[in-house]
Amino acid sequence: MGGVSRSPIQIVPSVLPADFSRLGEECAALEAAGVDRIQWDVMDGVFVPNLTFGPDVVGACRRWCSVPFEAHLMVAGPDLLLSQWVDAGCELLIVHAESVVHLHRTLARVRELGARAGVALNPSTPVAAVTSVLDLCDMVLVMTVNPGFGGQAYISTMEPKIRELRSLYDGDIEVDGGIGPSTIAGAAAAGANWLVAGSALYRDPDGLEHAVKDLRARAEAAA
Ligand code: DX5
Repeated sequence: MGGVSRSPIQIVPSVLPADFSRLGEECAALEAAGVDRIQWDVMDGVFVPNLTFGPDVVGACRRWCSVPFEAHLMVAGPDLLLSQWVDAGCELLIVHAESVVHLHRTLARVRELGARAGVALNPSTPVAAVTSVLDLCDMVLVMTVNPGFGGQAYISTMEPKIRELRSLYDGDIEVDGGIGPSTIAGAAAAGANWLVAGSALYRDPDGLEHAVKDLRARAEAAA
């Protein structure tokens, strides 16, 4: 498990629930609320049954904040636009293991382009699908919902998969989907240190800053 190291708990917003008509201001508000990075949910209507935004939209938001951007590529054929995501200011590109034929080549290409490489696993995909490429991964994302929409229920049966991955991999493990006040502790206790949240951040009646602080405290207490 040498080579990679993990960072402390990070709270990562998904911008899916944000106001798309003013995404730049929304990024600035997230940074002001204390998030550690921002995840862009890139959907192509093919790999998942939903459609969001391309590199130009993300690039236009880069100047509004300085927190790191990661592109969660829920697309068929992510190899096509890898350099455009790097040019848009994403320091980490997350490719789904199910979306490419040559995962080893794609992860290596992401690093060649100067970005960090991550791999995502759909709920039905076992850890075994990526054990032979963990040396090329700067992080691994375990989906805790079936990708495509926000506001879905957390799949707690993913926690044994997070524990299995944590036993094999010392790097950053991210979880995404249904993360909120009642679910974040389970994911953090299983070994995840990057926690993506969408609706739980935007629906907190006490606002974004309270939501970030609350989720961080719960995760840190459980980790
Ligand atoms: C789903 C996305 C998630 C989603 C999270 O495919 O990858 O990032 O937006 O939203 P919540 O936290 O509402 O489940």
